[in-house]
Amino acid sequence: MINIALIGYGYWGANYVRAFNELPDVKVTLICDTNEDRLRLARERYPLLGTSANPEEALNNKWIDAVVVATPARAHFEFTQQALLKGKHVLVEKPMTTRVADGEELIRTAEQQGRVLMVGHTFLFNAGVRKVKELMSAADFGKVYYLHATRTNLGPVRHDVNALWDLAAHDIAIFDHLLNAMPQWVSAVGQRVLGNPREDVGFVSLHYPGEVLANLHVSWVDPNKVREIVVVGSQRRIVFDDLNNLERVRIFEKGVTPSPAETDSFGEFRLLVRDGDILSPRIETSEPLKNQAMHFCDCIRKGQAPLSDGRNGLAVVRVLAAIDQSLAKNGAPVEIR
Ligand SMILES: NC(=O)c1ccc[n+]([C@@H]2O[C@H](COP(=O)([O-])OP(=O)(O)OC[C@H]3O[C@@H](n4cnc5c(N)ncnc54)[C@H](O)[C@@H]3O)[C@@H](O)[C@H]2O)c1
Repeated sequence: MINIALIGYGYWGANYVRAFNELPDVKVTLICDTNEDRLRLARERYPLLGTSANPEEALNNKWIDAVVVATPARAHFEFTQQALLKGKHVLVEKPMTTRVADGEELIRTAEQQGRVLMVGHTFLFNAGVRKVKELMSAADFGKVYYLHATRTNLGPVRHDVNALWDLAAHDIAIFDHLLNAMPQWVSAVGQRVLGNPREDVGFVSLHYPGEVLANLHVSWVDPNKVREIVVVGSQRRIVFDDLNNLERVRIFEKGVTPSPAETDSFGEFRLLVRDGDILSPRIETSEPLKNQAMHFCDCIRKGQAPLSDGRNGLAVVRVLAAIDQSLAKNGAPVEIR
């Protein structure tokens, strides 16, 4: 049996309690939140579970094997570090930390303590994203030209990080996963439209190895909810639309490539246009958060590194830190170490 404590019973933390409690041999035994109203809701829903307004209780309880940190981003580092030092496995929400140095420290601590450190990059556990990765790995996909992501909605507006740290964290994790790489440099512009000291809207270009360009747009002030990733390749275009339950992934069997034969005009290549069908493959029905919870428990039992481990989490934090630097310089390119 794996006993879990949750720190942060907000919108997302409540989903974690349900997801973990649906798994065999796993139990959320303690819910911690500093907000009494949230604890009251937790007690109404789960009268048999322990609750506490003091997160220290989760860290000091020797019966707790693992801690899930689902607080606002600025508290992620402190709770994760303390839990690892107390010998707990940790699943921390994205973004893993709000500073690169903190992310590096968490990785060191997890290694020293021999504990699993996993980051809640939920989209890596989404069957639609898995399908896109599978399709991109197939020989008939051709060469990746570029990727584009749109993540817009009205809210939720965060009060500790900007819209890039909150929303683009998902898209960067997906891009890194699909391309098996980290971007080499980024360029970002954003806008503070709500009068807060944080960007509410962002447009980011990311340059990946192999001349692959990715672009993302995030906003928490757009009344139109979009959750879309587009991958354009030489032979295929693939669209992942997380809001389309019927056709979550669509494949356009179309593309354009330069032919080796030159035209009469110097330096111009003939273009080969491929036309084909538009297909929507069957996508397995599974809940990404539950897949993620299951993977965390498997990694604890088998002593394995998770798909979204500390290094993946840190890679995303590095890109977000570079995005902040580029925002401050009105879009100037910023290299990522
Ligand atoms: N992976 C995903 O798809 C996904 C989706 C939503 C949110 N999230 C992440 O989950 C985290 C929480 O987001 P949310 O939407 O649930 O926010 P929320 O504001 O609804 O919940 C945060 C909760 O943490 C509690 N809290 C704040 N400070 C605390 C402290 N010091 N100790 C204990 N509890 C504290 C608050 O009272 C609140 O109940 C964020 O990091 C967010 O980025 C991830």
